[in-house]
Amino acid sequence: MVGINTGAADPVVAVERTGLHHRLPRTIGAAATALSALVLMLATTMAWAGQPWHGDYFPNVVLTDQDGKKAHFYDDLIRDKIVSINFVYTTCRDICPADTARLLRVQELLGEKVGRDVFMYSISIEPEKDTPAALKRYMHTFGVKPGWRFLTGAKADIELLQRKLGMRAFDPDKPQDHDTSVMVGNEKIGQWIKRSLFDDPLILTNLLADTLTNFSVDRSGKLSSYAVAPRIPDQSSGEYLFRTRCVSCHSIGGGDRLGPDLAGVAQARPRDWLARWLKEPDKMIAENDPVALALKARYRNLPMPNLGLNDIDAAALIEYLEKEDARAATSANRAAKAS
Ligand code: HEC
Repeated sequence: MVGINTGAADPVVAVERTGLHHRLPRTIGAAATALSALVLMLATTMAWAGQPWHGDYFPNVVLTDQDGKKAHFYDDLIRDKIVSINFVYTTCRDICPADTARLLRVQELLGEKVGRDVFMYSISIEPEKDTPAALKRYMHTFGVKPGWRFLTGAKADIELLQRKLGMRAFDPDKPQDHDTSVMVGNEKIGQWIKRSLFDDPLILTNLLADTLTNFSVDRSGKLSSYAVAPRIPDQSSGEYLFRTRCVSCHSIGGGDRLGPDLAGVAQARPRDWLARWLKEPDKMIAENDPVALALKARYRNLPMPNLGLNDIDAAALIEYLEKEDARAATSANRAAKAS
């Protein structure tokens, strides 16, 4: 039960097995035994109190959503619910837009479950700037659909929530260093998992729609063998980067998402332009690069984020984009010949 090996003859074991609190060790001979009894009792008491990550753990602070509606964090937002919680600030120009885009894919994949079976929350870490109106504008820029709430509140309360959720504390001088993980959980059964937002949106969706729900369901008999699991295709580093950093905003040949469809872009843009764009789009926008500005105006003024990529990443991504174009051309050719 608890990690103390006291030996079979030790009376403390009886206390543990039967859970009888009054049967304390009769011989307080060895100090070690007494000490382990104490530790054991503490541990047992804690296990009995044993409701980590419920109402006695989470603060019930009041937050305000994008419509100005107030909600208690524990009672109204998470109690008995399956939730995703992450921290953002709306003026963030590097990683948060990519996070929001990724969660947007999760929202799309979850469909009408959001707001009914699964509740999504993004909480501002710059509440003094992120008024409800600012949050609403941000949601509009990304096309966030109903059921996913953006929240602001008192700074001290939000910092407390970050700490309670195991998120790295936030240095006010470096908001860009904040913890960009997402916490997904089923409050009812006290099961919480911290995930990176670089995860494939499908994985987060599965966690929220399936795994976390099924923790409380008997799945015996429904499990299949690893032998029938689909093979994961080999991935180039460019493909890996694309799937983990770009798919939430771009497709190649599947139409526009938050950003433009990238089919043919490796042909259409000069290579130097493209390589620099992938590394520092924010700088190019700040320098009023005409192509960058025209693109930004076309895509709801949502700037492409600086994802911290280096030359090697950019080259791998361009190679991947070219390969996808070549693959599309080959299959188009084949289709034309067949008809
Ligand atoms: C948060 C969403 C987002 C993410 C993530 C993102 N982009 Fe973009 N991207 C955009 C937007 C929006 C534009 C249009 C320009 C603008 O508004 O700044 C764009 C423009 C581009 C362009 C220029 C297209 C053209 O017609 O010249 C390329 C190339 C591009 N992105 C590649 C990538 C790659 C590769 C990744 C992953 C490493 C990526 N983007 C990640 C949103 C995103």
